[in-house]
Amino acid sequence: MKKIRTLALGTLLTLILAACGGAQPGDQQAAPPDNGQQAEAPASRLEQIKQSGKIVVATSADYPPFEYHAIIDGQDKIVGWEMELAEAIATELGVKLEIKEGIFDTLLLDLDAGKADMVISAMTITPDRLESVDFSDPYWMTAQSVMVPAGSEGSIAAAEDLSGKTIGVQLGTTGEIAAKEIEGAEVRSYELFEAAVLDLVAGRVDAVVGDYAVVKNYAASRPELTVAFELTKEENAVAFKKGDDELREAVNDILAKLQANGTIDQLIEKYEVAPPPEAKAEE
Ligand code: ARG
Repeated sequence: MKKIRTLALGTLLTLILAACGGAQPGDQQAAPPDNGQQAEAPASRLEQIKQSGKIVVATSADYPPFEYHAIIDGQDKIVGWEMELAEAIATELGVKLEIKEGIFDTLLLDLDAGKADMVISAMTITPDRLESVDFSDPYWMTAQSVMVPAGSEGSIAAAEDLSGKTIGVQLGTTGEIAAKEIEGAEVRSYELFEAAVLDLVAGRVDAVVGDYAVVKNYAASRPELTVAFELTKEENAVAFKKGDDELREAVNDILAKLQANGTIDQLIEKYEVAPPPEAKAEE
């Protein structure tokens, strides 16, 4: 009995040895190194950007002078002061810029889904948004402002004057939130800001709420419109997917540099970006 068992054990050992001997070339390499080290961490978004040689910015190009379409040399391009800012960020990172156009309301979802590395779209820092994304340091002071037909700024001079009126806003914006807080006002939300402006021109809404420099820009080119007053005070910043800290910190350093060397001021001047009245007074 003892002999049989010994024999069986011997057979088993032989089998095991045979199995080991049958290992494929390269198997040893594939085995994890037995030094207690973890597998290599996946590259951070910043490393991925540098490796791929490009950074993708998502924006809603319906917001002059921040980001908008223009025909340049016969070609439809997305331009604006913030697109030049994005360009400068890419240059500082040593990569190319790719602009991905989206609907403002879903830009942050695109960011979360990894469809873009950052969002630059006159995006205001809000506590709500901070729950789902991270923001850079602010680079621009702004205010949600009320644009009305020229001539009605006398009768629409404060929020309460909008009671009983229809306000056009862009879907998912802080302008939409501010307008909805006005008692008695009806709010009409548009996917594109431009559509709200067109309805104001056509008399289908009584007012439009948007960022100060943007409504100022529209009013400057359309004498039938004027900017009446401001509803909020806000700050614009670059949005990042939560946890992309390395990228966010790199962009913060770049923004500080672009402030210090006058690049941002030059863009503000070039695109005639109007600071809201109070921000001007604080200067
Ligand atoms: N500042 C506002 C917000 O963050 C509106 C921004 C709209 N931007 C645009 N590119 N249409 O909600």
